[in-house]
Amino acid sequence: MDFSSTIKHARALDRDDPLGRFRQDFVIKDPTLVYLDGNSLGRLPLKTATYMERAIREQWGESLIRSWNEHWYDQSAQLGKKIARIIGAHPEEVIVSDSTSVNLYKLAFGALKVREGKTEIISDDMNFPTDLYIIQGLIKQLGAKHTLKLLRSPDGISSDMSKLQRMVNQNTALITLSHVAYKSSYMYDMEWVTELAHLNNALVLWDLSHSVGVAPVNLNGAGVDLAVGCTYKYLNGGPGSPAFLYVKRELQELMENPIQGWFGELNPFEFHLNYRESEGIRKFLTGTPPVISSSGLEPALDIILEAGIDAIRQKSVSQSEYLLSLVRQLLSDNGIRVGSPEIVENRGSHISLKHAEAYRICKALADPEVGDGVHIPDFREPNNIRLGISPLYTSYEDISRAILQLKEIIAAKLYENYPNTRDQVT
Ligand SMILES: Cc1ncc(COP(=O)(O)O)c(C=O)c1O
Repeated sequence: MDFSSTIKHARALDRDDPLGRFRQDFVIKDPTLVYLDGNSLGRLPLKTATYMERAIREQWGESLIRSWNEHWYDQSAQLGKKIARIIGAHPEEVIVSDSTSVNLYKLAFGALKVREGKTEIISDDMNFPTDLYIIQGLIKQLGAKHTLKLLRSPDGISSDMSKLQRMVNQNTALITLSHVAYKSSYMYDMEWVTELAHLNNALVLWDLSHSVGVAPVNLNGAGVDLAVGCTYKYLNGGPGSPAFLYVKRELQELMENPIQGWFGELNPFEFHLNYRESEGIRKFLTGTPPVISSSGLEPALDIILEAGIDAIRQKSVSQSEYLLSLVRQLLSDNGIRVGSPEIVENRGSHISLKHAEAYRICKALADPEVGDGVHIPDFREPNNIRLGISPLYTSYEDISRAILQLKEIIAAKLYENYPNTRDQVT
């Protein structure tokens, strides 16, 4: 397949795409820019600026403190209700707050208290480092009574379920994993792992950061106890938008929030001197929420709800299979290896490609002077080129142009023109 027939075919796929119209709901200043990093920072929805501007000019600028009663006090719970619809939870089981790291800390603490006496925590070596740091810190703070056991991936791409089965036992307090692995895109069978935890009377805590908004998540259906996730990737909430947490209804009363602040108090404006925890999910709040960035989240969630998560997943599957077919056709003898599971059911919405020169290849892809313009992937140590597919705005043409460009860069060794020194943020 040559360049023009590949592009022609991609355009035909775009014309037939039932979700194609949602691309217009995002700010796309340069239509030639190929953005394959929505798995790190989603694009800006068109309506976000309006919502944020309203929060700033009208709610803050004009209504001033009255906006707390009119809009802001319930915002975290209202947004939680919308996210609940995306992740198969009851509306009163999800709330928006803090960062993913802080939420993970809160829920892992609560889980260990609920399973007091058990001393093992299980995670894996493909988890996002912050998740492991949080657990390591928590173990220290709880007097080093717990042990963190890491399930080792055989190949850095997928997980071995029989190994996990052998690790879990009656002393397991908590299994905490990323639903979709940030590097390889491996997706756990949430229901199977949750059941395994419950057979051993352990709790399970999922990090949904790489699956929420793009992969099917049914927390209630799988009987999940606890979950956290960020909103700036496939939910398109913007840089620093607040995260969310989920606590199963039946567990809410049993769980304690380790950072009890006034927003989690039963009635903050009674200014009681002794903390009385709120009922329900609100007790997992701590302090004043980030109102301005929270207000940008609302229109972003609305787009996802309108498109529907099943349709989004369908397109994600179709696009990732398309990307892999191009990789097989065009890149198979170019030193590229696929660093994601081959089986689509085991995969989220990004594909990792491995190459010894991955970092410099990413630099060349993003250079406007090379080929047909800017292509933005991201790089993950030591050799992963991550290509994120965000079906609401990623087109088939984007994917074809990125792979064609990749072929060109590798074949002509154009990456040799770039230094190997890493940027602060990669
Ligand atoms: C799986 C996962 N968990 C947690 C985080 C960090 O989240 P936060 O910065 O909101 O704490 C990230 C960031 O990319 C992530 O990919």
